[in-house]
Amino acid sequence: MTIVAEHQTGLEEIHLGDLAERTDLVPIFIMGKKYDVPSTLTIQKALEFAGYQLIRGCGCRGGICGACATVYRLPSSPKIHVGLACQTVVQPSMYLTMVPFFPANRAIYSIDEMKPDVQSLLKTYPELAKCMGCNTCTKSCPMNIPVMEYISSALRGDLERTAELSMSCVMCGICTSRCPAELAQYNIAILCRRLTGRHLRPKARHVHEMVARIAAGTYDESLKKLMTADLETLRKLYVEREMEPHTAEEMWEPQDKTFL
Ligand code: SF4
Ligand code: SF4
Ligand code: FES
Repeated sequence: MTIVAEHQTGLEEIHLGDLAERTDLVPIFIMGKKYDVPSTLTIQKALEFAGYQLIRGCGCRGGICGACATVYRLPSSPKIHVGLACQTVVQPSMYLTMVPFFPANRAIYSIDEMKPDVQSLLKTYPELAKCMGCNTCTKSCPMNIPVMEYISSALRGDLERTAELSMSCVMCGICTSRCPAELAQYNIAILCRRLTGRHLRPKARHVHEMVARIAAGTYDESLKKLMTADLETLRKLYVEREMEPHTAEEMWEPQDKTFL
């Protein structure tokens, strides 16, 4: 198995020295080994507190990248829990391990040449037809996405519905690790989102307009100025730039329209 983390020899002894003083520690079991960690830490921080250096299974630390998929059990329960290590707070006596990568079928395709229908999906991912409706994927998803439902929509040829339902998927792969039909649900979902964006939704006219303006050289002069400016000037421009307020309306524009 890929190394999830490297244990830093020596850190354990340093922590042990401090532990006697602390009253906020709870025991957890990381890959079967017991550690006492502060009760308010996320699993990710608890791993580091315990002396592990995360070299896989750690990306954004903010619940976005899906790199830190973790499975755990709690005492006296056969239930398998799942969570993102950077978002899930430790619980006393939890047994955990991270699943930083799970092999998944990822097809190569040309989105331009595909039709947005169920035949395209089945040709690209034939295993889609093997879904047996067990709902394990939905129960496994740390983002509370109705995974089985989006797979059913894909099978019905309702790609837009699959795209909508799967929008907050972080591609952690836990659903895939547990699927008895061996689907890579998140890769099927991303194909549906791509087909929806490419073929089913209206074209974003403003993007094409902006690309045309860039191609016509509208911004060449401004870019040249920035690229030849000295560090001090760049710093000043950056610090004094007009920023969009947090509460800005959708059509907000800066006062200075030089770069629009
Ligand atoms: S876990 Fe697999 S077989 Fe079960 S519902 Fe989800 S996709 Fe279908
Ligand atoms: S749908 Fe699957 S890959 Fe996406 S967040 Fe849920 S469990 Fe992770
Ligand atoms: S590190 Fe990115 S979701 Fe946890």
